[in-house]
Amino acid sequence: MQNKKHARLIIVSNRLPAVVKKGIEDEYKVNHASGGLVTAMTPVLKRDGGIWIGWAGNYKEEGLDVEKLLREQEKDLNYKYKPVDISLNEYELYYKGFSNEVLWPLFHNVSVYCKFSEKYYKAYQKVNREFANKIMQELADEDFIWIHDYHLINTGKELRQKGVKNKIAFFLHIPFPPLETFNRMPWRLKIIKALLSYDLIGFQTEIDKKNFLEVVESLVKQYKIKHEELNITNIITKQRESRVGVFPISIDYDEFFNQAKSEEVSKMTKEIKEGYPEQKIILGVDRLDYSKGIPNRLKVYRRLLDRNPKLRKKVKLIQVIVPSREDIVKYASLKKEIEELVGEINGKFSQLGWIPIQYIYHSLSRVELLSYYRASDIALVTPLKDGMNLIAKEYCVANFDKNGVLILSEFAGAKHQFKSDALLVNPFDEDAVVNSIKRALLMQTKEKYERMENLQNIVKKFDIYWWVDMFLKTAKIIGKET
Ligand code: UDP
Ligand code: G6P
Repeated sequence: MQNKKHARLIIVSNRLPAVVKKGIEDEYKVNHASGGLVTAMTPVLKRDGGIWIGWAGNYKEEGLDVEKLLREQEKDLNYKYKPVDISLNEYELYYKGFSNEVLWPLFHNVSVYCKFSEKYYKAYQKVNREFANKIMQELADEDFIWIHDYHLINTGKELRQKGVKNKIAFFLHIPFPPLETFNRMPWRLKIIKALLSYDLIGFQTEIDKKNFLEVVESLVKQYKIKHEELNITNIITKQRESRVGVFPISIDYDEFFNQAKSEEVSKMTKEIKEGYPEQKIILGVDRLDYSKGIPNRLKVYRRLLDRNPKLRKKVKLIQVIVPSREDIVKYASLKKEIEELVGEINGKFSQLGWIPIQYIYHSLSRVELLSYYRASDIALVTPLKDGMNLIAKEYCVANFDKNGVLILSEFAGAKHQFKSDALLVNPFDEDAVVNSIKRALLMQTKEKYERMENLQNIVKKFDIYWWVDMFLKTAKIIGKET
């Protein structure tokens, strides 16, 4: 442990925003990572500086100096990347196995997809210990350690076992499941106790917090739970008092808004619109994931076209899918299912000069993404379960002409902030989603404007800087509590 006296922010997440990949000629390249966690945390470190510890690729066996390669990326940043080195085999069991075949499906309420394997849990423990070792190498006395997401629940416990006394907080970006679902996991008590080694545990919504407290009450009865003002709950154990709170994550409003207004984006927006004359654009943007409800959405669109022949040639679905976790069986089969549905719908309804779905299977640059947001008349954000869903927030901010409509799943964390002005739908109810699309297509300009203005104001007020400051105040790292 180092002995510096000033407080720094140490962010720890499984994935760093920069990922080392091998190119076609076996050369090493650094790519930008996708996903809500990276989008949200990047502006926080840009503003506050610090260290970001995480994984950037498996090159231990090849002897590649990943840290050196990343140094090039940090040149203009006021924070540093510190990559953890983990063997390929261990990483697979921890990442694909325990993180994404146990915790991810369980926490998204699809426990039938879980593969409960002791081998996975052992690797999870070991890799979490390695993350803790890496943190120890960087740590100074006053540093604030902030661990992110389900991959690293055990890291706080490992740090405590090594005697670390610093403040350690944890934020869960994904949902926390109901008691009955959580209880299916063989390691439930270990996971819950590991969570209680943090000084502050943050959730996206009240439902997640309530589920967590129910699990704590049922599994570890000897702990005292004390509800405080401002929705903070304290759990008192022999070792410490852990605070539990709700912090709905957000985006950098100004950055998205200003870039969406830029000339580059305006030009591309125009090109997209001109590509689909006389058509209303319906947009879906998702990482490849079964939690996003993409097949359900495609079936809704099929039903819309089937039951409303007059809408054919008048609407266009643009579905962007960002490749993700493709070497996990459930993700590979989901990709196949989606591509079969897209093929079926395009085959069935295409006419001269009109193809119902434009399917994009790769990640987009920020300029492209913002242009698609701006060009779309409707955003269909219909996950079956989602911690927050930043696509919903980004769409609203980018839609500064205020002529778009957000159709939002009632199972996305974002619904709690957006319930008055988005059209809320149950993504499992095909007819209800079809009706919402029809309502959005017919909505008057004034109503669209007012709804979008309200949605934008919510993101503007509760942006990522509001979020981080609220979290740090609750952790008693900055200022007085509000
Ligand atoms: N995104 C991206 N590249 C793309 C499309 C989207 O990096 O080609 C980003 C998008 O800007 C958003 C994030 O991916 O910030 C998705 O976050 P969300 O919370 O909606 O879902 P997650 O992927 O975290 O489950
Ligand atoms: C979600 C998770 C993040 C994760 C991201 C991308 O947003 O909450 O922790 O980084 O998905 O998934 P991946 O498995 O590619 O890191």
